[in-house]
Amino acid sequence: MTLYDAVGGRPTFALIAKTFYEGIASDEVLLPMYGGGDLAPATERLQLFLEQYWGGPRDYEELRGHPRLRMRHMAYSINRDARERWLRHMRAALDAAVEAKLVAPLYEAELWDYLERAATSLMNTNG
Ligand code: HEM
Repeated sequence: MTLYDAVGGRPTFALIAKTFYEGIASDEVLLPMYGGGDLAPATERLQLFLEQYWGGPRDYEELRGHPRLRMRHMAYSINRDARERWLRHMRAALDAAVEAKLVAPLYEAELWDYLERAATSLMNTNG
């Protein structure tokens, strides 16, 4: 059984991506990085990426090709503040999934550990 299945599959990742982007929508530092337009396409990309990473359907790859996250994030200045903000919104998103009883503590810890490390790996400036 994959983590994707263990946490309830697509509806859980949809909730996480939706809650995360609600946070982005009110973040004065991160929001401008998203171009100021409709956040729905970005919400879908994050959802599909996370689904695929955790063993779910490979829709992300079909839509976007290889993730190459480090390369795709080079267009943005990701310093410590940006990382912390990103993780704060992701924390709220995971909390929502835990509160909805979709994600059990064991999986919550596994998801969070990955997200923290991934966010660190995408930092590309000290400025
Ligand atoms: C560390 C702070 C981070 C910042 C400031 C940041 C910012 C951004 C921005 C501005 C975009 C463009 C939105 C779009 O058009 O999709 C983006 C895309 C994306 N980010 Fe991040 N990101 C961060 C961390 C992460 C992490 C940790 C992950 C994965 C665990 C991630 C996964 C993605 C994915 C999958 C996309 C869409 C890539 C594509 O297919 O084009 N990001 N990010």
